[in-house]
Amino acid sequence: MASERTLSIIKPDATKRNLTGAIIDRFERRGLRIVAQKRLRLTTEQAERFYAVHAERPFYRSLVRFMTSGPVVVQVLEGPDAIAVNREVMGATDPAKAAPGTISKDFAESIEANSVHGSDSAETAAQEIAFFFSALEIDP
Ligand code: CMP
Repeated sequence: MASERTLSIIKPDATKRNLTGAIIDRFERRGLRIVAQKRLRLTTEQAERFYAVHAERPFYRSLVRFMTSGPVVVQVLEGPDAIAVNREVMGATDPAKAAPGTISKDFAESIEANSVHGSDSAETAAQEIAFFFSALEIDP
């Protein structure tokens, strides 16, 4: 299994409820290593750009409002098969459809306020990591 990197966002609903550590614990227990991390508040322009792929979706404006409603913690997670492992740990986007023991099932408030984001492919991961981090900010 090749070592990969993926971009993770702990979303405003989770930072507000003080769940950052509980979520990080889920990642680390599954062998994902945090090789970069920062807490920040997205501007509307940044959230629009990050989620530009969803611009035509009916939930886009609400998603941008939600993602700018409080601080987020953005992270680069590294490990064998990190993209798939992270998606497994997160569970389905919709908490109503998420498996027991996943972050979505245990922490998400709704399909929108779903506590975490994770890249969905190697190509997206590279783009999303570059969106938030420079090479100098990532543990080599
Ligand atoms: P994320 O993985 O960050 O990618 C896009 C986000 O849009 C998703 O998580 C949810 O927060 C949100 N989202 C996806 N589908 C819906 C939906 N049907 N209604 C509202 N928000 C959604």
